[in-house]
Amino acid sequence: MPEPIGVLMAASEVSPLAQTGGLAEVAGSLPRALTESGLPTAVIMPGYRQALAKGQYTDLGLDLSIPMGAEIVHAKLLLGRLDELTPIYLVQCDPFFDRDSLYGQESGQYIDNPERFAFFSKVAVEACDYLNPKPDVLMANDWQTGLTMPYLVEKGPEAPKGLFVIHNQGFLGLAPFSAAKEIGLPLSYLNVDGLEYYGQFSYLKAGIVYSKLVVTVSPTYALEIQTPEGGHGLDGVLRLYNHKLHGILNGVNYSRWNPKTDPYIAANYDADDPSGKEICKLELKKEAGLSPSDRPLFSMVSRLTAQKGLSLLIEAAADLFKLGIDLVILGSGDAWFEERLTEIQTLYPERMRLTLGYDAPLSHKIMAASDFVLVPSIYEPCGLIQLYALGYGAIPVVRAIGGLNDTIRDFAGANPEGLWDNGFKFSQFQAGALVRAVRRATELYEGRDDFKTMMVSNMREDFSWNKSALSYAKLIRSLFD
Ligand code: ADP
Ligand code: GLC
Repeated sequence: MPEPIGVLMAASEVSPLAQTGGLAEVAGSLPRALTESGLPTAVIMPGYRQALAKGQYTDLGLDLSIPMGAEIVHAKLLLGRLDELTPIYLVQCDPFFDRDSLYGQESGQYIDNPERFAFFSKVAVEACDYLNPKPDVLMANDWQTGLTMPYLVEKGPEAPKGLFVIHNQGFLGLAPFSAAKEIGLPLSYLNVDGLEYYGQFSYLKAGIVYSKLVVTVSPTYALEIQTPEGGHGLDGVLRLYNHKLHGILNGVNYSRWNPKTDPYIAANYDADDPSGKEICKLELKKEAGLSPSDRPLFSMVSRLTAQKGLSLLIEAAADLFKLGIDLVILGSGDAWFEERLTEIQTLYPERMRLTLGYDAPLSHKIMAASDFVLVPSIYEPCGLIQLYALGYGAIPVVRAIGGLNDTIRDFAGANPEGLWDNGFKFSQFQAGALVRAVRRATELYEGRDDFKTMMVSNMREDFSWNKSALSYAKLIRSLFD
């Protein structure tokens, strides 16, 4: 028997150790599914203060000396476990990672992010030489780990093969030309065919150009990023490399997102007995101080950034409330959106509750309580929240783009014979289009039987990671054919 192909997943956030968005959920769940599909997978992440505080680790006693410009910066490798099957390595370097947050604070991103993530990428590549067994594939995610791909090429043919995953094309990972010393690659990598991006460097571009394979997190997004609207200036590069570009949908970690076992919600339930969902709704409305009516409860759990379509929600708010909905929003992000949403809440105090901040238990309670979940994004590479919503019987109302388009089927009427559609979609990024989709959703809610049928049928859908892992495994194996 040949040795199985081993994978090292490098990610800048990994749930539950450190998280700002969906990338962490992927990096925290896919490795186990890959191992179960026959490719033993370990994870490497920065040794953030938050991650060190959450786990138990053994110092491997290695001192990796990494040249960063004129200086040598030292890294230690700590070993812990992400789950029963998955080793996780933390790169400890306190000057870079012992900070209040992962990427920056309200005043902006940390100014030395280009150095921090060049350093992490170098360590991830160097660490491969010390791991036993040595990984055959390095799987990197988003701009923070984009530089691993040219570093692997620079190391030569004995290095692991590089697979680069794009979770969000909107984050280009830009660095000024003055970062060239810290990046430390020969000049031949730094021109327009390599890292150069309109007078700067792009770490995302580095990942695309120098990897053996590029995956993004849905088939539709794989097409969208090749267009000027979706490419953020790299659509030409993606068209050039589209022979190695693939779209694979994310999955759901049903051990964390399951209303039958969820420890955070007021009553557990499942498709066979969904009665607990009503209790969850009543309880959340009570906690949120919303009036106890029988209105449909809509929600949004999201980073509050332009990507997530909040401008549409803000523009449409008055018309949405006219349709007779209640609205719960949990999110944090841009101050401008936080202020506008706060203003709307003061106009509809009994109908809307906004919670600012990152609150994982509350996000579960909201999924369990909601009748509908809104995802009106400008672009959405995959989107996880609509998948969690399906499992919790909250019907998604989404814009028909990216992964939202690939996972949600627009309701075209009752379907007693076959597979039910699972949500509502609208195409144009216009307030009127959102309002029309919400109106159709509220009409379904009023005709109770069809609403319940869709809800229960959604709860039975299966987006488990093992399907996605099989697609990744097939691609990875193709590198060794
Ligand atoms: P993105 O990665 O673009 O933010 P996804 O839908 O892929 O979008 O993933 C977002 C994840 O982050 C979901 O698991 C969602 O529940 C979680 N999330 C986002 N904002 C918050 C918040 N304020 N509190 C708790 N969880 C949040
Ligand atoms: C990104 C995307 C989101 C995706 C997540 C995980 O942050 O915005 O759509 O689900 O990564 O891949």
